[in-house]
Amino acid sequence: MKAIIINRYGSPEVFEEAEVEKPKIKPDQMLVKVYAASVNPIDWKIRKGMLKIITGTKFPMILGFDVSGEVVETGGLITKFKQGDLIYARLDGLPGGAYAEYAAVSEKVAASKPSNITHEQAAAVPLAAMTALQALRDEGQIKTGQQVLINGASGGVGTFAIQIAKILGAGVVTGVCSSKNLDLVKSLGAERVIDYTQQDFTKESAKYDIVFDVSGNCSFNECKGVLHPQGVYITTQPYPGNYLKSFLTWITPGQKYKVILLKSNSEDLAFLKEQIEAGKLRVVIDRTYPLSETAAAHAYSETGRATGKIAISIAS
Ligand SMILES: NC(=O)c1ccc[n+]([C@@H]2O[C@H](COP(=O)([O-])OP(=O)(O)OC[C@H]3O[C@@H](n4cnc5c(N)ncnc54)[C@H](OP(=O)(O)O)[C@@H]3O)[C@@H](O)[C@H]2O)c1
Repeated sequence: MKAIIINRYGSPEVFEEAEVEKPKIKPDQMLVKVYAASVNPIDWKIRKGMLKIITGTKFPMILGFDVSGEVVETGGLITKFKQGDLIYARLDGLPGGAYAEYAAVSEKVAASKPSNITHEQAAAVPLAAMTALQALRDEGQIKTGQQVLINGASGGVGTFAIQIAKILGAGVVTGVCSSKNLDLVKSLGAERVIDYTQQDFTKESAKYDIVFDVSGNCSFNECKGVLHPQGVYITTQPYPGNYLKSFLTWITPGQKYKVILLKSNSEDLAFLKEQIEAGKLRVVIDRTYPLSETAAAHAYSETGRATGKIAISIAS
């Protein structure tokens, strides 16, 4: 099969197109013909070697975690899907394996693809939308009517977080982004938008129950003043030091510091499919690249300026 591989860590130029063996599936996995994948910042962090302590040095590697495609073969333990089913998933093995014509997908991290969107849109959902869902629902313990601020509201995770906060019953949702994305963030359901190039939300008098720092650029200390006494700050940056800060607020009363670390699962994907099919959750795609231009897709993601998601089209 055709795949985009890396044989060493480095800049986007390390990507090469290659003919490789189709993945061998385990009994709890399905072989999926991949129609589309998407790019997440973790993909280029892995490509650069930033996570090599966990991704190791066994090359070649196929990167990418998000897939949308068709089941072509099922392992002996598969019960929910059959050949021909259209599924979407966030791959659970490191370093991924989505940037290829076929991927091995565990049943426990797959769900039926939402029927009313394209494969490119479907592949844009799993990692980013499940992160937003698990951050607000599980870490934030969001409650009806709460005031929620999303910092980094126009990116992959942020565009889902604004909408999911509303789906989960938030009261006023505030999105923080740059000038060019204010209208988009409002159109996703944010009642208030703050242009970070004009205003520093941490210096405002408004108070929030949840501050979800998607961008990872405002610290807990900076946000304390805009959090209610029992408010929750959530970061997307799972560094050991941040877990220590989280532990310290866990053992003391008052404001809490939470770290989101996505756990792939089919139940959350099924929930997101329902929201998408009900027209409550929209997928924002900035650019779509063919598989052969994965290097350009990564270079664009690394600018940190993508609006919504970056998709990779693999087959039609
Ligand atoms: N822990 C986990 O499980 C987990 C899961 C998913 C993602 N993450 C991490 O979460 C982070 C965000 O991921 P993502 O997919 O949303 O990234 P992304 O799509 O690349 O985010 C791009 C967005 O960030 C916004 N942005 C850039 N600088 C900003 C600033 N100073 N203030 C507010 N917004 C700013 C940009 O908006 P403008 O163009 O308007 O500036 C752009 O829309 C990454 O570090 C990623 O690795 C962690």
